Amino acid sequence: MERKIKDSKVLVTGGAGFIGSNLCEALLQQNNHVVCLDNFMTGHRHNIEAFLSNPNFTLVEGDIRNYEDCQKAVEGCDYVLHQAALGSVPRSIKDPMTSTDVNIGGFVKMLHAAAEAKVKRFVYAASSSTYGDSKALPKVEHKIGNALSPYAITKYVDELYAKNFSDLYGIETIGLRYFNVFGRRQDPNGAYAAVIPLFVKKLMAHESPVINGDGTYSRDFTYIENVIQANQLAAITPTDVIKERQAEYYKAIDESLSLNHSSLNIISEVFNVAYGQRTDLNELTQSLRENLSKFDREIAKVEILHGPNRAGDIPHSLASIEKGKMLLRYKPEYSIQSGLQEACKWYVYNL
Ligand SMILES: NC(=O)c1ccc[n+]([C@@H]2O[C@H](COP(=O)([O-])OP(=O)(O)OC[C@H]3O[C@@H](n4cnc5c(N)ncnc54)[C@H](O)[C@@H]3O)[C@@H](O)[C@H]2O)c1
Repeated sequence: MERKIKDSKVLVTGGAGFIGSNLCEALLQQNNHVVCLDNFMTGHRHNIEAFLSNPNFTLVEGDIRNYEDCQKAVEGCDYVLHQAALGSVPRSIKDPMTSTDVNIGGFVKMLHAAAEAKVKRFVYAASSSTYGDSKALPKVEHKIGNALSPYAITKYVDELYAKNFSDLYGIETIGLRYFNVFGRRQDPNGAYAAVIPLFVKKLMAHESPVINGDGTYSRDFTYIENVIQANQLAAITPTDVIKERQAEYYKAIDESLSLNHSSLNIISEVFNVAYGQRTDLNELTQSLRENLSKFDREIAKVEILHGPNRAGDIPHSLASIEKGKMLLRYKPEYSIQSGLQEACKWYVYNL
């Protein structure tokens, strides 16, 4: 069965961002026409510079909060891979209104425009933050806790809207709950940079990275290639195939959930997207230092410091990826180690 989107027209919202630009690149390699909708709020022109001269690439500079921009971008598209949002838990705590405006208001506009344009499937970036304060490990899609931030709320509300729009308007939706994604083009700059690019930048400048807390908190760090694979499978796995596997999956985990899903004629699902292994912050930082010191031996001597724990951080996060494996045949190809090697190499030559 086909595992990649080919010969299609695909809208990538947030296509100038970290994940979006990697999706654009992968899609262009498979002879797709790619439309990128972005307002460059956190994304960068340099992320898509290489695609601008490609006749199969169209940039729509616009805002998902503007319905006309959404309509223009989605016109004639087969699939939408919706990545545009304001990421970062701390950003949403500092400015909940803008995060809500973009992540919910913009999401609903894009979803509505996609339903109106009758796209084949609307695949969107959901988040592991939806598990909130749930202590259960590994995280399984149907068991979530209480949200711990405005960001987490926005991402969960998106899931509710997606399901509701599937029921009301018949648009197929798949939410991908990403777990700490990393890789080439992830932004190391700004107040809300993610831990891996932030620490890489520090180490390359021979400055000490500061771990929040004692470093025993752990995450299921996920390399970008695995995320690209999940998006492609989520878009093209046929409805009847998912339905067949869905019945089997829900029967195995909980018969009552299977009733819920078997009544639907269209797909509306969420999946964890991760590698399925957790790494603590001490191990991560050590591994970054080792990888980077292959390029600059001085980095091996940079000291690693510890600061106070950050408010709202959960101690551990680890995904069950069984549902994605079963329904989409998701098979992450990059472990954290192989992903870190690739990412470090990229930063050494591009930062
Ligand atoms: N990186 C992760 O670890 C992670 C984890 C969970 C979920 N996610 C989700 O994945 C998606 C992509 O994240 P990323 O890490 O690539 O972030 P990013 O900031 O690099 O990319 C987001 C893109 O969306 C664009 N954007 C923001 N607001 C917009 C608006 N109003 N209109 C049009 N474009 C807009 C930005 O300019 C940027 O290019 C987001 O939805 C994020 O919430 C990311």
